[in-house]
Amino acid sequence: MTNAGQTPPDPHLTTDIGLLRVDHVGVAVPDLDAAIALHTGTFGLRVTHRETNAEQGVHEAMLTAGDGRTVVQLVAPADPESTLATFLGRRGPGLHHLAYTVADVAAAAATLRDRGLRVLYDEPRGGTSGSRITFVHPADTGGVLVELVEHPAGD
Ligand code: CO
Repeated sequence: MTNAGQTPPDPHLTTDIGLLRVDHVGVAVPDLDAAIALHTGTFGLRVTHRETNAEQGVHEAMLTAGDGRTVVQLVAPADPESTLATFLGRRGPGLHHLAYTVADVAAAAATLRDRGLRVLYDEPRGGTSGSRITFVHPADTGGVLVELVEHPAGD
């Protein structure tokens, strides 16, 4: 029996959790404007987006280079009680998380939970530019805080 009319998933393009690519790398910074000046002035990255995410307690900026597929996210605490503020207090500025683009964040989270990983949110939350996000506990991923990002349809 063939699945006539359907295109099978291409294993070279996606994984079994619907992971498509690296979405961005997140860098924790204490001061967003100072960090933007550093990354634009040093590497010539361009700021493509800024927003404050009150739910996450962060001010953030997306920076890109070249064709726009290289994205660095700078995140600074907007709230001294935020988990990011706690991270900065313990670890100082630096690499914070690795974000993957996924086709369906709820489905990817469910599969990872089935595999025994701790997914931080019961339901995906609002991320940058209307995306839906969740995080996987770094203790279950070799020390890397992994963010899963589902972009709005058409993005
Ligand atoms: Co991120």
